[in-house]
Amino acid sequence: MRKKIVAGNWKMNTTIKEAEVLVKDLTALVDEFDTDVDIIVCPPFTHLDSVARLLAKQYDEKEKIYLGAQNCADHTSGAYTGEVSVNMLKSVNCKYVILGHSERREYYHENSASLYEKIELALNAGIIPIFCVGEKLEERESNRHFEVVAEQIKDVLYRLKGAEMSKIIIAYEPVWAIGTGKTATSEQAEEMHAYIRKVVADKFGDVADIVPILYGGSCKPSNAQEIFSKPNVDGGLIGGASLVAKDFVDIVKSF
Ligand code: PGA
Repeated sequence: MRKKIVAGNWKMNTTIKEAEVLVKDLTALVDEFDTDVDIIVCPPFTHLDSVARLLAKQYDEKEKIYLGAQNCADHTSGAYTGEVSVNMLKSVNCKYVILGHSERREYYHENSASLYEKIELALNAGIIPIFCVGEKLEERESNRHFEVVAEQIKDVLYRLKGAEMSKIIIAYEPVWAIGTGKTATSEQAEEMHAYIRKVVADKFGDVADIVPILYGGSCKPSNAQEIFSKPNVDGGLIGGASLVAKDFVDIVKSF
């Protein structure tokens, strides 16, 4: 059985006060039901410590919501102004880190070489990478989407050892669906998720069966159930809808 995961990517949203309200609202709603879904929130760096403290206060025994970051540095420490290391993330109880989000690839020129370094550093620190892949609109329209996604996986994940790959979460996020209100159909998502699993299996064999593959791109309460019903969709990476506590929790409940 693969893990079911719903992760909220808050992106560059919320002040610290707003983040605290959001996390309190979330814990209140999540405490009303039992779930086997791993729930993750990924606030901006400046809010991680406060959110970690609120979660620790709420869950002194069994955690129900885990903390993730939206990025990490590709070096361990030193003269890298503005960067945040995996050890810093670990020191605020981060268990996950989103890596290779299309916004970072596009606006901050992240490439496969630095993403590989980040993944290695995260894994060595015991932090689980949520590695994002996905094609742009013109790539889908020219029928290159499979090729593009396979390349993103091969360039980075094929360099890992099998034991490392078994810890990775993949998020398929078609760029044309992110923040656009345009969602991939559940068939399009399933088709790509099955393909991604095959690409992972070609190199890592059975490990592919345990790698969770999340869908991201305008996922919301009204479409989550349909998308999550597909056999190769193991959850979602949620942007906009993760900023509204009830919407995010309704997506968790869609499983
Ligand atoms: P969205 O973002 O849900 O707002 O489309 C998803 C993401 O970028 O992770």
